[in-house]
Amino acid sequence: MLPSSILGRKAPALFRTLGQQPIRAFSCAAGDASASNRRLLIFGAPGSGKGTLAGWLGRDLNAPTQADVEPCTASAPGLTALSSGDLLRAEMRAGTPLGQSVEALINSGGLVPDDDMVKLIAGQLAAMDGSNWLLDGFPRTLGQAMALDEVLTSLTPSRQAPIDYVIHIDVPSEVIVERIAGRLIHPGSGRIYNRTFSPPKVPGVDDLTGEPLVSRVDDDPESVRRRLELYAQTSQPILDYYMDRGIVGRFTGPTSDAIYTTLLPQIQEILAPTVVLPSAEDLTCAATAHQVSA
Ligand code: AP5
Ligand code: MG
Repeated sequence: MLPSSILGRKAPALFRTLGQQPIRAFSCAAGDASASNRRLLIFGAPGSGKGTLAGWLGRDLNAPTQADVEPCTASAPGLTALSSGDLLRAEMRAGTPLGQSVEALINSGGLVPDDDMVKLIAGQLAAMDGSNWLLDGFPRTLGQAMALDEVLTSLTPSRQAPIDYVIHIDVPSEVIVERIAGRLIHPGSGRIYNRTFSPPKVPGVDDLTGEPLVSRVDDDPESVRRRLELYAQTSQPILDYYMDRGIVGRFTGPTSDAIYTTLLPQIQEILAPTVVLPSAEDLTCAATAHQVSA
């Protein structure tokens, strides 16, 4: 097995030259997955398209491949997206103590206290350790960013860096308010639609489940104004925190579609080295994978 210091730096040539499909890794891999998985953040203003883009990445990077039908062949590495807002809305729907205590705050556009957020996210991170993941909406304060580092370092002390990459979505503020006004969500899954930009096939109904779509309570103009203000006050120190490490990629454009054309290849490139292989048995797998992808 390759040492974890190599994994996550540069994949060996054998694995980088598998056909022209750099996003492929190996489903038959063995190794310390929690030290080589990719940990990404998506960061941007309310309504900048974080949830939309995270959803598209999850969809495209988790597409079924040959590996799903043949064991020991190449497969997409996958990316699990986790939205802090979706988690909080699920708590509110379930009427948990946390959901009840934060409901008024969220609906008015305020921020949930750091301690509650860190506890909520830390529980999820432990479960996701070992897979590639993307956090949407966390951290939102410098305190959360520092706490996240601590949680991740304690989860996997062997890693060189707690976070690998931060996607910074930078969208002109004038388009944001209009976008949010048209947003509809499917409460059960968090799937996002927009009345004009990406309407459901049947008005008011989720494409996959047929269940009703709703507007978010915190999407009323006054709450949106407060959320944008809070973002303006809190975002720069967080960006600076990660920019000092050289791990921030800024993506800007008039639409999520335009941003996605540069975002997707970048994330594919970042996920590509999540190859955990070579034992003798693994090399057999690699040969098979090469034939499949060539
Ligand atoms: P959260 O759910 O994270 O909300 P947010 O950060 O305010 O971001 P949004 O979900 O509103 O926007 P988005 O960037 O995901 O945009 P989307 O893709 O939907 O958090 C909600 C609340 O929870 C917070 O206010 C806070 O109270 C609390 N909270 C969460 N995390 C917290 C934390 N860490 N600490 C403390 N409190 C926390 O797109 C927006 C709209 O634009 C959609 O309608 C979409 O369809 C549309 N759209 C997307 N792309 C385009 C396009 N190209 N053209 C036109 N429309 C488009
Ligand atoms: Mg969102």
